[in-house]
Amino acid sequence: MKNIVILISGGGSNMAAIVRAAERDRWADRFGARIAAVVSNKAEAGGLALAKSHGIDTAVVPHKDFATREAFDEALAKVVDGYSPALVVLAGFMRILTPGFVGRYAGRLVNIHPSLLPAFPGLNTHQRAIEAGCKVAGVTVHQVTTELDHGPILAQAVVPVLPDDTAATLAGRVLAQEHLLYPRAIAGWLSDTSSHNR
Ligand code: GAR
Repeated sequence: MKNIVILISGGGSNMAAIVRAAERDRWADRFGARIAAVVSNKAEAGGLALAKSHGIDTAVVPHKDFATREAFDEALAKVVDGYSPALVVLAGFMRILTPGFVGRYAGRLVNIHPSLLPAFPGLNTHQRAIEAGCKVAGVTVHQVTTELDHGPILAQAVVPVLPDDTAATLAGRVLAQEHLLYPRAIAGWLSDTSSHNR
């Protein structure tokens, strides 16, 4: 069975969408894959309860307990490696990862970012898109490389920016697309890797 480990920091609505898609679309039967664990850097991350309610292992590695990024990433990797993951999914995981961590999971580490990369890496993407006068915005699923919010693009979805949009209304429109795009992109990745292994 291919194990998927999902890393979250907050509400985990993308994680929830992935968990539901895995159940609904029978990823275990189709791809031999399962969501093995959800790991958070914050104990209060809302998504942990949902993961538990689906029978998924959860763990918390609080970044505040570690003096350096390297020490935190080392502890995180130890938990993640416990599941021998085929794929590590960043779903609203709001930590910059060290090159050591990224290198360890090279080719099997993906992220979702709420902009049409390479536009607007980093934070406050929706406000920045509105201020730049963008007529469209969107979301990107990409492989993670050592450069923040860069890396080969796996999938994107586009939404309109409406004249009276605020960052909050635009974020809501983008998030609805995230919940469709991320499960689809992961299923595509699983399907590709299954066929390579045949
Ligand atoms: C999502 O919009 C995701 O794209 C974004 O955080 C939100 C998490 O929501 N990620 C980033 O900004 C990463 N740079 P969720 O916890 O409900 O999935």
